[in-house]
Amino acid sequence: MSALVIDNIGLLVTNDPERGQVRDAALVIEDGRVSAIERTGAAGDERLDAGGRCVIPGFVDSHTHLVFAGDRGDEFAARMAGAPYAAGGIRVTTEATRAASREQLRELAAARRAEALRAGITHLEIKSGYGLDVDTERRSCEVAAELTDDVTFLGAHVVPAEYEGRAGDYVDLVCGDMLAACAPHAKWIDVFCEEGAFDEEQSRRVLAAGRDAGLGLRVHGNQLGPGPGVRLAVEMGAASVDHCTYLEDADIDALAGSDTVATFLPATDFSTRQPYPDARRAIDAGVAPAIATNCNPGSSYTTSMAFCLALAVRDMHMTMEEALTAATLGGARALRRDDIGHLSPGARGDAVVLDAPSYSHLVYRPGVPLVAATIAGGSAAG
Ligand code: NIG
Repeated sequence: MSALVIDNIGLLVTNDPERGQVRDAALVIEDGRVSAIERTGAAGDERLDAGGRCVIPGFVDSHTHLVFAGDRGDEFAARMAGAPYAAGGIRVTTEATRAASREQLRELAAARRAEALRAGITHLEIKSGYGLDVDTERRSCEVAAELTDDVTFLGAHVVPAEYEGRAGDYVDLVCGDMLAACAPHAKWIDVFCEEGAFDEEQSRRVLAAGRDAGLGLRVHGNQLGPGPGVRLAVEMGAASVDHCTYLEDADIDALAGSDTVATFLPATDFSTRQPYPDARRAIDAGVAPAIATNCNPGSSYTTSMAFCLALAVRDMHMTMEEALTAATLGGARALRRDDIGHLSPGARGDAVVLDAPSYSHLVYRPGVPLVAATIAGGSAAG
């Protein structure tokens, strides 16, 4: 058995209810799993000196769209000049993604994965959704599956141009041949339930077909305005409903009495000049929150979870601790996993050494790269 000891930790955040935050600690990882939390000075085959700095669980990014080609910098510039964000921008990326080879998609997605790792993201979910035809959706899921075991089939991202005016036919394709091609490579199915994408009935059909094919459910909802996405996600028992920018009382009530996590994507609201969700109200009502980057070329081109935490605290009125928990344990819950997002004995040895005495510096020092080392499965990464 090989043991890595991260020693001389000034402040260790475990997310373990029995241990909480521990001062002057050593984290022992054996064969890729946390085996013990000891006092500074523990022995091991390999020692990483944290130098009195803070160590946190690796970030769990439960919402990304890393498989795509092309660039939408001009669209972002137009938005900053006053143009609104619309779901239709997805089609621009679809054209570029269809034109890319499998090898190109692999290289692009792997580079983004590496960037996320350097930012302290030790586990992430990856969606398809920029192919929108059977072959490119399958290829996207296959490429994603090389990088994570949390792959989400998102054929119902938007109606592609060739199906304009025939959304019902496209939903038939998504629920039929496309699902059959993608399900073997995916764990989840997702639908963008929003004005300009799919309505409630279409979304329900997609989710039901995915469930019948053995996939877990996720929903993009309430991003661009109030709508049925959140309530549909709860009704269908989805693991997570993501965005939640516009939450009405009934949405909060539904979420609070459910197992569905509300995943907030504040970098999206930043990048699309939307209002921020009222996370404070939702959390106070008992809603389980996660925070994710939503890395994608249109609405949120970032792999910085630290940036998301800064927005969540400053603009969504979460406490620093709530934000960190939402980006680690919350992400794990949104993916229905108990092996990541915390550093209890038995958990995956995923940890981040911060170049700071406390995780509060992630918010206090916005824009500063504070990840000194990323440890994934007990090995140095990123
Ligand atoms: O989560 N909401 C839908 N999908 C992405 C946006 C994709 C795009 O604009 O390319 C999102 O924000």
